[in-house]
Amino acid sequence: MLRDQHQVQVHFLFNFLLVLIVIIAPTIGAHHHHHKFRIKEATISEIQNAFQHEKLTSRQLVKFYLREISKLNPLLRGVIEVNPDAIHLADKADKERKSSMRGGSSSRLHYLHGIPILLKDNIATKDRMNTTAGSLALLGSIVPRDAGVVKKLRKAGAIILGKASISEWAHFRSFNAPSGWNARAGQGKNPYVLSADPCGSSSGSAISVAANLVTVTLGTETDGSILCPSNSNSVVGIKPTVGLTSRSGVIPISPRQDTVGPICRTVADAVYVLDTIVGFDKRDDATTVASKFIPKGGYLQFLKPDGLKGKRLGILRNPLFSPDSDSIVTLRQGGAVLVDNLNISNLDIILDSSKSGELPALAIEFKVALNAYLKELVASPVRSLADVIAFNKKFSDLEKIDEYGQDLFLLSQATDEIGDMEKPLQSRLEKLSRDGLEKLMREHMLDALVTPGHEITPVLAIGGLPGISVPAGYNPKGVPFGICFGGRKGSEPKLIEIAYAFEQATHVRKPPSFKP
Ligand SMILES: *[C@@H]1O[C@H](CO)[C@@H](O)[C@H](O)[C@H]1NC(C)=O
Ligand SMILES: *[C@@H]1O[C@H](CO)[C@@H](O)[C@H](O)[C@H]1NC(C)=O
Repeated sequence: MLRDQHQVQVHFLFNFLLVLIVIIAPTIGAHHHHHKFRIKEATISEIQNAFQHEKLTSRQLVKFYLREISKLNPLLRGVIEVNPDAIHLADKADKERKSSMRGGSSSRLHYLHGIPILLKDNIATKDRMNTTAGSLALLGSIVPRDAGVVKKLRKAGAIILGKASISEWAHFRSFNAPSGWNARAGQGKNPYVLSADPCGSSSGSAISVAANLVTVTLGTETDGSILCPSNSNSVVGIKPTVGLTSRSGVIPISPRQDTVGPICRTVADAVYVLDTIVGFDKRDDATTVASKFIPKGGYLQFLKPDGLKGKRLGILRNPLFSPDSDSIVTLRQGGAVLVDNLNISNLDIILDSSKSGELPALAIEFKVALNAYLKELVASPVRSLADVIAFNKKFSDLEKIDEYGQDLFLLSQATDEIGDMEKPLQSRLEKLSRDGLEKLMREHMLDALVTPGHEITPVLAIGGLPGISVPAGYNPKGVPFGICFGGRKGSEPKLIEIAYAFEQATHVRKPPSFKP
């Protein structure tokens, strides 16, 4: 009896367990499937979460990206070289994470710890990689030290995965060279529509992150070089206020306009990177002044889903500068106040770089700044702009000089070093910006100017003003376009609120499918 009862109980228990398994098993499977971590399209916070739950290591992450690069880069040419030490750096990050988790202090690791990043090839790294701005002339040059932003990235524990390709010399060699072309990597391709313009000059950064060859990237901008490729490759680009991020160790065009910023798949990822690279650097005086713009507690606090509420957004009267109608609806629904029909004084002059003085100013500034950069190198085949011009003549086949020329180099070489010409040009540009966008923003109490992604860039460039480009859609052929939020110096917190809320309301971005 006892024994029978026992049997019944055992039998019951057995059946109960069986039923339980039958019921639960598919749920476990589905559950498991649903939460299966995928590297493709993963954000920084998803990757950190996977690290924490030991579903992923930096080694796996780096190996995934290296595989994708070897598979896709022959087509896309977004990467100019990979770091031969990338796997070693990943192992080091994994070891550090393990020991910090054992110590129960994993929260003390930086959010970029163990995260792979590609740097535009004009950002110096003191390691086994080259820093060349895509030019054969700088191959084998040895930089004195890491760029200021690279020091901050390494300190945070980010893994420098490699160098992203670029429009050669950040598109300051000639007017005719196509965007995304350089002699080392060839022609970078837009991963959405291969025949479409990838824009530049941070072409490789935008192409690579769009195509999931890396988690995040850095680009640089003098006029449009972050915002335009972000616009064209359906990614998020932040062009910071000049001086917010150090330009030390970056192959320059103009200290007055150059800035370093993130290009990423999401606003949050871009803000994580921005937050890491901003701040004082003794080798870049502009960072002393601009550091006052950095908010207490950093930039992450501005990732607010309701960030559009109550924001005053300016729209220009010129139809070329009006955002698409879907985006306007989104901005209104998010609670923004649209101030329409505005004019920027002298907009036609600002948009013409010869008339505004931007081009002649850059030509003067480039020669001085580049010569100073080249002089500081530990070793280099070229030591001046004149040397680079001579190199290009000598290797005109490889550098496609007959086809693309080097007219901007020649223009720059022909300018006198800092002197009478430069100061009046710089004052003129400052005044155009002050009386232009800056005055408009003040008079209408705007939080941002909202425009399509790229035409607006000179307006921001000449004043050293910030902008954020966010994916906004795809044309009928599948070519991406973005929306740009620009503002006053140091207005990154507001721009981030607006950009993040817009992104959360739209989620326009989808990974590329390499259409011809
Ligand atoms: C850097 O350039 C040299 C040629 O000067 C080349 O041999 C080397 O492979 C390059 N480094 C990387 C990491 O590609
Ligand atoms: C912008 O300029 C046009 C004419 O050029 C004018 O009709 C319009 O009122 C101006 N808008 C503002 C807000 O000044």
